[in-house]
Amino acid sequence: MDRTYPVREFSHLKGLKGISDAQVEQHLKLYEGYVKQTNLIREQLAEMLGAGKTDTVAFAELNRRLPFEQNGMVLHERYFENLAPGGSELPKGGELEKRLVESFGSVESYKKDLAAMAKMRGVGWVLTVQDPFTGWLGNRWVTLHQDGNIAGHHVILALDVWEHAWTVDHKPTERAKYLDAFLGNMCWETAQARLVPPVKPVTP
Ligand SMILES: [Fe+2]
Repeated sequence: MDRTYPVREFSHLKGLKGISDAQVEQHLKLYEGYVKQTNLIREQLAEMLGAGKTDTVAFAELNRRLPFEQNGMVLHERYFENLAPGGSELPKGGELEKRLVESFGSVESYKKDLAAMAKMRGVGWVLTVQDPFTGWLGNRWVTLHQDGNIAGHHVILALDVWEHAWTVDHKPTERAKYLDAFLGNMCWETAQARLVPPVKPVTP
């Protein structure tokens, strides 16, 4: 069975408002690198396991490297999936609105939190995640791709705030312009479709 991750196509991203095709093209190339590195490391680790070379520095370091590459792949896929030219409105009276109000008090308060986190100094990600046990939503800062993910929490919205996400179009100091463009293309219907029903903890 082929367990190689494919480089996914995101041709629907052409013509975003305020995010140029050249910017998207460069970002997709970076994403491709994460997919290739993820596959390569998984392949090398499987070979080491097969050859009995697990008591080595290389085995340990590749295992430490994999979450960076694989989360880089996964988070970019969530990011590209939740963008489309012009975006889509938050469905009125829908499940996402209900969950946001329950978790933040109001949609406005959630959006204020999202924007404030997106303007935090340093590169990383702002993720809106759902706790699968309570159904609650929260915004979480993820440094690089792997530090700050809450185990098992489900990504509802992914916002890339690495500088490579906007520096083809804007200066490094113009993160706010990128944030406006992101929100102008954000598909809230996609975010809503990602919600999962709460699950029960499993015990013996
Ligand atoms: Fe990125």
